[in-house]
Amino acid sequence: MALLSILVLFFLPLLSFLLLKGKKKNGKGFKLPPSPPGLPIIGNLHQIGSLPHRTVAQLSKKYGQVMVLHFGRTPVVFVTTPEMAKEVLKNQDANMCSRPPLQGPRKISYNFKDISFTPYGEWWREIRKICALELLSPKAVQSYMFVREEEIALMVDSITKVSPAPVDLSEKLASITNKVISRTAFGKVYKGKDLDNGKLTEAVGEVLLCLNNFSREDFFPTFGWIINMLTGYTARIDRALHNMDKFFEKVIEYHLDSNRPKPDREDIIDVLLRLQRDQSSRVPITKDHIKGVLKDILLASVDTGGLSMVWAMTELARHPRVMKMVQAEIRSYVGNKGKVDESDIESLHFFRATLKESLRLHPPSPLLFARETMSDCKLDGYDIPNKTRIHVNVFAVQRDPRYWKNPDEYIPERFIDNPIDLNGRSYEYFPFSSGRRICPGITMGLAIVEPILANLLYSFDWKLPSGMTVEDINMEESFNLSVNKKTPLILVPIPYECKTA
Ligand code: HEM
Repeated sequence: MALLSILVLFFLPLLSFLLLKGKKKNGKGFKLPPSPPGLPIIGNLHQIGSLPHRTVAQLSKKYGQVMVLHFGRTPVVFVTTPEMAKEVLKNQDANMCSRPPLQGPRKISYNFKDISFTPYGEWWREIRKICALELLSPKAVQSYMFVREEEIALMVDSITKVSPAPVDLSEKLASITNKVISRTAFGKVYKGKDLDNGKLTEAVGEVLLCLNNFSREDFFPTFGWIINMLTGYTARIDRALHNMDKFFEKVIEYHLDSNRPKPDREDIIDVLLRLQRDQSSRVPITKDHIKGVLKDILLASVDTGGLSMVWAMTELARHPRVMKMVQAEIRSYVGNKGKVDESDIESLHFFRATLKESLRLHPPSPLLFARETMSDCKLDGYDIPNKTRIHVNVFAVQRDPRYWKNPDEYIPERFIDNPIDLNGRSYEYFPFSSGRRICPGITMGLAIVEPILANLLYSFDWKLPSGMTVEDINMEESFNLSVNKKTPLILVPIPYECKTA
């Protein structure tokens, strides 16, 4: 029996790997895209490294704009040029906009009852529509401007108080994004003691581990879960999910409480609970569906929003010339008003260019989320079978030297007098993605990120901690589907008013 198990565990994957290779070589079956030579059983897994977006960009220089990496038994297609991105995200989007049923996303999405990871279908179409209308439309986003203004004022105040002590901007930016999203989408900020002694932030960090899309359980279905169990990974994720679930229970309980003060307008949870009660949506909504959406809002926005701002401030700290220019623009436009209003932002062209350039170099989700084909198709002349996983490497696309001069350099000026916007209409630049799966939260994301950054730049000069030079700023990345700055960004704030007084 034991011998049989070993045979099944090791030789079945090997057999299917060889069969796949055979089909590719004899040219009679599928003509799969090129692939770097791999090892038996693990395929190319040993080559992917801790920063897959960079490895894939590098490998594609040799293997081409459409290539396959084999992770265990699973072939995964990567595309790395604007032309192929357009093919996946536009021309063949209708066939390539589903999601593969990966194990991490399955767990965190309450078995695909969310938006981000749920496969293409009726529920996904309906819930995207509901969120777009009730939470993410320009009108809905505008109605929560007061929340952003209050939280920005509190943040500026708290930084002024500690100045000139160094500030952990990574922590500050994650915290304000969290508060703004909580108040906007969940009705209030849920303080630590309400939440099992504030384990939510830790839980969010841990849960993000589930999302890296390159998990053992997916590539080695037969024994990956055993390794995950033995290494303690499963227990760690389950604990984090349990804490997050407890948070969602509290949030829903709060919304069902008849003693809750009547809000001026329904938030997204009120809306979903109403639809559930009235059974008035086209698709059934259960408590798990509501939790799935809460998960999306929390993870899709808090993580991406926070890290976009950290990279934007990091690049400015590394480029003091640009920092001076952007501050001069903001301060001369805003004058002595004391704060940047959201209505000012549209006129701050250079400021917006700095954000666009930072999103070009550091797209928050550099491989986008995994997509899955819904039927056999062709890509760049290669055969792509039904149910194949595809990643679009937006990191590589946004540094394609055919489209971007000095692609690795931070040059915000390239976005001045340049019609490229953030709405996914240009296939050489789409930090929020494009096509049917485009981020539905662009308006809200920008409404959070832009005024926070503009106010930080207006209200403070930012210096490096004593003894540190621009070259010492650590640019290391950590990959978890999204790419964070590995070490916190610590800068010294000098209030602007003090300097001018
Ligand atoms: C600066 C902020 C943000 C950035 C850079 C960003 C970026 C992205 C990206 C790149 C995707 C992947 C799309 C794909 O796989 O093709 C995505 C998906 C998504 N984002 Fe955002 N996002 C941001 C803010 C938000 C906010 C504020 C929300 C909602 C409150 C949100 C909700 C979502 C959802 C639900 C999806 C999944 C869409 C689907 O699969 O249909 N995002 N986002």
